[in-house]
Amino acid sequence: MPQYLLAIDQGTTSSRAIVFDASGNSVATAQKEFQQYFPQDGWVEHDALEIWESTLAVCREALETSKVPVASISGIGITNQRETTIIWDRQTGEPVYRAIVWQDRRTASWCTKLKSDGHEDTVVERTGLLIDPYFSATKIAWILDNVDGLRARAEAGELAFGTVDSWLLWNLTGGQSHRTDATNASRTAIFNIHEQDWDEELLKLFRIPRSLLPDVLDSAADFGDTDEKWFGQALPVAGIAGDQHAALIGQACFKPGMAKSTYGTGCFLMVNTGSEAPRSENRLLTTMAYRLNGKPCYAMEGSIFVAGAAMQWLRDGLKLIRHASESSRYATEVGVENPVYLVPAFTGLGAPHWDPHARGAIMGLTRDTGIAEIVTAGLQSVCYQTKDLVRAIQNDGTSLKSLRVDGGMVVNDWLMQFLADILNVPVERPKVTETTALGAAYLAGLQTGVYQSLEQITELWAREHYFQPKMRPVLRESLYAGWLDAIERVCNN
Ligand code: G3P
Repeated sequence: MPQYLLAIDQGTTSSRAIVFDASGNSVATAQKEFQQYFPQDGWVEHDALEIWESTLAVCREALETSKVPVASISGIGITNQRETTIIWDRQTGEPVYRAIVWQDRRTASWCTKLKSDGHEDTVVERTGLLIDPYFSATKIAWILDNVDGLRARAEAGELAFGTVDSWLLWNLTGGQSHRTDATNASRTAIFNIHEQDWDEELLKLFRIPRSLLPDVLDSAADFGDTDEKWFGQALPVAGIAGDQHAALIGQACFKPGMAKSTYGTGCFLMVNTGSEAPRSENRLLTTMAYRLNGKPCYAMEGSIFVAGAAMQWLRDGLKLIRHASESSRYATEVGVENPVYLVPAFTGLGAPHWDPHARGAIMGLTRDTGIAEIVTAGLQSVCYQTKDLVRAIQNDGTSLKSLRVDGGMVVNDWLMQFLADILNVPVERPKVTETTALGAAYLAGLQTGVYQSLEQITELWAREHYFQPKMRPVLRESLYAGWLDAIERVCNN
């Protein structure tokens, strides 16, 4: 009987489910957007129940349109927006507060205080992360401190915390399984990536009771079986990884030095560093690439909070374009020598600047600036931000032979060529750009015997386009110098 895998990709703006065959071809896809809540400046929330309900709905829809019998699904892989924090009641399964999304900056002043009190070094040393509102730890404590009675209930063991993967797993298994994988755990700022366990001292620092926490498993593991009522029969959840880690797997970046960059809401660049967990001197993160058969594989990561979201803002907020695809027409018209710079620091700046207080700006406006220049600047901002990361990686001593790209924006040829040009690194676009979901499917397939090894997965990766850098160095440098100048004007660091 042919084997199939069901991948859940629970992202920041939508929940998706894809049925893959064993060769990594997508057979059916379903997607559902859900509501974003912005209750205050810098706050971003989701309704955890809507996350769950939309996920279940897309799973059912993808299964139905695929016409694949449920009995032919070997396993489910989950990949998810990371760091987003959910706390729920173990008895009723009800969330006790909205999900606080990774982009949320409400704990910025506490983070500043923790840093000035000298705690950052311990956090970096143990977790590979920095102190920033981005990570789950301060979000967990915020919920416990700001919703009446929750701290006491947490101490009494009545509550459970999870990143989105845990929350979905809990619901899929009918409340039977409270687990996560090492990649998701590594984004909380309370998980010791060297010891592969929750860190007691950090739990104390962030005032988080251990009883809240899920068990941490490998990324391919037996996470639990789904309740029969969801799909008509039980299915094993056999793979879990945070979305950027799953994309690294989907891009088959299994060797040290191999790198991928994913362009979704944000942009996340990861370089595999193998069994070494090097400490960045340039404000990049050290994180888990994945953990298989108990063996941790590490990565360096640069995280940018706004990439595709900048185009979304130009489309929905400013209404300068009707569809993201119009942007390349404008960019072709304007050309690369655009004097306008857009710094999309809507929720502060991530790597390598890490300034939660920075806010966005458009610079270089003149009387003849029009929609085309601003839209082009939006596209270019994605590449300039990637350049900031690549520079940090290079300054940390790693040279990139190429960069594998994926995510919604990479269909834009103009953008990919400008990216290769500004980075001065070749950009490789794979045939399958659904690499995040594919990575989750691969993990589930590794656990359920659809795949025997990472080598087998490597053979499934195929390139669709190779963008060779061809910009004159003088032009590259002067364009990038303009960006650095713009960044300096919005950064408080
Ligand atoms: O760290 C946040 C990241 O996991 C979100 O990814 O694809 O939803 O922008 P995405």
